Amino acid sequence: MNSATILALITGYLLGSIPFGLLLTRLGGKGDIRDVGSGNIGATNVLRTGSKGLASATLLLDAGKGAVAVLLAQQFWPGAVNFAAAGALIGHLYPAWLRFKGGKGVATMLGILVPLFWQAALVYVVIWVGLLLILRISSVAGMAAAASAPVTAAILNEQALFPMLLGFALLVIWKHRENIRRLAVGEEPRVGGKK
Ligand code: G3P
Repeated sequence: MNSATILALITGYLLGSIPFGLLLTRLGGKGDIRDVGSGNIGATNVLRTGSKGLASATLLLDAGKGAVAVLLAQQFWPGAVNFAAAGALIGHLYPAWLRFKGGKGVATMLGILVPLFWQAALVYVVIWVGLLLILRISSVAGMAAAASAPVTAAILNEQALFPMLLGFALLVIWKHRENIRRLAVGEEPRVGGKK
């Protein structure tokens, strides 16, 4: 590993590991988000505190930190952009500051894709929002969106991105294993509705 790679990885990790959902809900007087709903620090769970504003801000900032990590690397370490992207997603999923118990990565993965691979970002948004509107189950929409990124890379023959995006999608799905268990027994809550 050269110094650009290490810098990109560390910068990505530090940005990705900022737990915006946790910070915003604390600042907004909602207590510890980890004691609410699924216990996740992401926007869906922030919405369960009843604050659409805090949930929207969490979504934007969680996506934004992924985008900023990639943009910084594109500017300063162009040969190590994938390391910044991977650092950002891993930082969000496994932040050292929260004993490595972070979020599920759906928003941060989208943020990474926007400057990295806009076509995949577009497909991701269509699938995420479309399934969310149809099913109203955030985890299913998020996992399907994450899975769409390596598929888009394969279809568009983006060989340099495919393995990394496949790894990202698998990590995001792995982080949803509790949701998958709840889905299997019909206990996964719907967004904005009854369980
Ligand atoms: O992006 C997170 C979402 O997919 C699931 O969140 O709180 O329902 O586990 P949650």
